[in-house]
Amino acid sequence: MSDALMQTYARIPLTFERGEGAWLWDSEGNRYLDAVSGIAVCGLGHCHPKVTAAIQEQAATLVHTSNIYRIQNQERLAERLRSLSGMETAFFCNSGTEANEAAIKLARLYGHQRGIKKPTIVVAHGSFHGRTLAALSATGNPKIQAGFEPLLEGFEHVPYNDLKAVEALADNDQVVAVLVEPLTGEGGVVVPEEGYLRGLRELCDRNNWLLMLDEVQTGMGRTGSWFAFQQTGIVPDVMSLAKGLGNGFPIAPAWPPARRPASFRPATMARPSAAIRLPAGPR
Ligand SMILES: Cc1ncc(COP(=O)(O)O)c(C=O)c1O
Repeated sequence: MSDALMQTYARIPLTFERGEGAWLWDSEGNRYLDAVSGIAVCGLGHCHPKVTAAIQEQAATLVHTSNIYRIQNQERLAERLRSLSGMETAFFCNSGTEANEAAIKLARLYGHQRGIKKPTIVVAHGSFHGRTLAALSATGNPKIQAGFEPLLEGFEHVPYNDLKAVEALADNDQVVAVLVEPLTGEGGVVVPEEGYLRGLRELCDRNNWLLMLDEVQTGMGRTGSWFAFQQTGIVPDVMSLAKGLGNGFPIAPAWPPARRPASFRPATMARPSAAIRLPAGPR
């Protein structure tokens, strides 16, 4: 592999040149079944004709103007996602880790609005929320965090699938939110016990915390419903999404809490971070 490229992955010496549906072809013409779907991204398969046509059409029409203007397709997508999820107002960014950054910022805003000096988010051991610094600090995996210390403060890690551990934090008046995956992805597929998410919802309601679900990996139909939370009878306050939404095109919304007053206003976020840009390649 070229040493002009940073060696961030132990890459398999295989180059895929073409994809169609669930199949990939390497540079020698061998065919492979893509059982990882581009790491949970290409839920509609590679080069789905409708996705390809939409990208081609948009690339030939207009690629980037910025969020200082109205973007019709962005509004259409926000409305469609609202009708599928029940979440209110979407904030778009480019990756799952950024959607989680947005969720973390929303929780901090929410805390400050309530006069909390050091807003703290309860997160789980074994979780994965991304590789930017705040998302990495929220992640519950010391192996991934090693070398990037000091991590950001404001996170309290508890065992996943353990309601009592979350309940024990009720006395901590700095806690503002709970952020978990509805079932863990990168940490091994751990499906929590029936009632775990409902229990978290109750604890959040009782303590005035936000329930924030990271549906980056579970969203867009990957667990049998559009969003995993829809199988539990609860609705989160904040949800982050990415991966399957773009089928390889980098797009990722986060939704601020509809029922509680925390939302980004003009200038709370740097504008470019919300722009939908040219595809930089599948994530
Ligand atoms: C649950 C979860 N959250 C966040 C991320 C980060 O998403 P991205 O790679 O799009 O930044 C991932 C990626 O695997 C994930 O599985």
